[in-house]
Amino acid sequence: MKRQVARIAITGAAGQIAYSLVFRIAQGDLLGPDQPVALHLLDVPAMNKALEGVAMELQDCALPLLKEVRIGSDPNQIFQGVHYALLVGAKSRGPGMERKDLLGDNGKIFVEQGRALNRSASRDVRVLVVGNPCNTNCLIAMHHAPDLPRRQFFAMTRLDQNRAVAQLAMRAQVGVQEVSRVAIWGNHSSTQVPDFLNAHIRGVPVLEAIPDRKWLEGAFIQQVQKRGAEVIAARGKSSAASAAHAIIGTIRSIVTPTASGDWFSLSVASDHNPYGLSEGLVFSFPCRSNGNGDWEIVSHLTIDPFLKEKIRLTQQELMEERDLVSHLLQEV
Ligand code: NAD
Ligand code: LMR
Repeated sequence: MKRQVARIAITGAAGQIAYSLVFRIAQGDLLGPDQPVALHLLDVPAMNKALEGVAMELQDCALPLLKEVRIGSDPNQIFQGVHYALLVGAKSRGPGMERKDLLGDNGKIFVEQGRALNRSASRDVRVLVVGNPCNTNCLIAMHHAPDLPRRQFFAMTRLDQNRAVAQLAMRAQVGVQEVSRVAIWGNHSSTQVPDFLNAHIRGVPVLEAIPDRKWLEGAFIQQVQKRGAEVIAARGKSSAASAAHAIIGTIRSIVTPTASGDWFSLSVASDHNPYGLSEGLVFSFPCRSNGNGDWEIVSHLTIDPFLKEKIRLTQQELMEERDLVSHLLQEV
C-alpha cells in the first residue's frame, strides 16, 4: 500500500500517547523510511493551542518524510481523505476504575467519529481504536460507518501481547525475540486471555520451556490482565510510550506479511470467526496479514477447557459492554 503521501489521522493529538507517537510516525517508524506522510491531528477545541505547539515541534524537527501537518477539532475536516485513522482521543481511567467505566463518557465520541470517517475518509482507510474501552468503542465507530468495510476497523490488544511476551521472556530467561505465537483473546480489559497454550519459546511450546502450569494459569495471566492498572498506580497516568509503540506495531503487522507460522493479536469484528464465538463483537484473535492490509484469523488453534472457560468469560464481558451502549448502536 505504498502511496505518494500517506495521510494519517491521529485523534487526541494533544494528549500523552500522541506525544509519544506523532514524531515516530513522522520519522518513518509506522510506514517505513520511503513513505512520505501527512499528519491530520484532531483534538477538542480547548486543546487547539496545545495542538499548535505539537505542530510547531513537528516542523522544528525538519523531518524529510513529513510533507504536511493539519490540525483542527472538526472530525469531518480532519478525516478528509485519510488512509489511516488512529483513534486515541478519549478519557483515561483513574485508579480503581475498570476501562468499561469510561463507556458513558467515551462511547459517544465514537458515534461522531464513525460518522465522520464514513463521510470523509479514503474508502480504504484502516481504523485503529485505542481510546478505552477500545473494543466496544470500535464496535460503535464501525456501526456508524456503514459504507466502510467492517474488516477495516480494529481495536488495540497489541500492548497486551507485548506485555505477555515480556513476561514469558523474563520467566524463561530468553530474549523477547525468542517468544512467538502469542495471542490475546477477547477484550482489552481485566478479563482478557493471554494464550500461553499455543505460544512458543525458541520454537517449542511454552509449556515445555516453562513447565509450570500453575504460574502460567495464575500469576502470568493476572500480571498481563492487570498491567495497565499497575502502570497507572505507579505513574499516576496511564501507559503512553508503550501504547504508542503498540500502535506502531499493530499497523506494521497489518501492512507487512506475517512470518510463516507466527501470528499477532488484533481485535476485529467477530463475524464468521472460526471458533464459533458470538458474532457482532470486536474481539481479539490471533491474526495473520498478507502484507496488503488484509488479514485473517488463524484457525485450528488448541483451545483446552481452561482456555475455553476464560474465553467464555471475556466474551460475556464484551456482550455486557455491548448491552450498555445499545442506545448508541441503533439503526443509522
Ligand atoms: P490523554 O488524556 O493524555 O489525551 C487524550 C486526548 O484526547 C486529550 O488531549 C483530549 O483533549 C483528547 N480528546 C478527548 N475527547 C476527544 C474527542 N472527542 N476528539 C478528539 N480528541 C479528544 O490520554 P492518553 O493517555 O493519550 O490516552 C488516550 C486513551 O487511550 C485513553 O482512553 C486511554 O485509556 C487509552 N489507552 C488505550 C490503550 C490500549 O492498549 N488500547 C493503551 C493506553 C491508553
Ligand atoms: C493500558 O492497558 O495500559 C491502557 O488500556 C490504559 C489503562 O487504562 O489500563
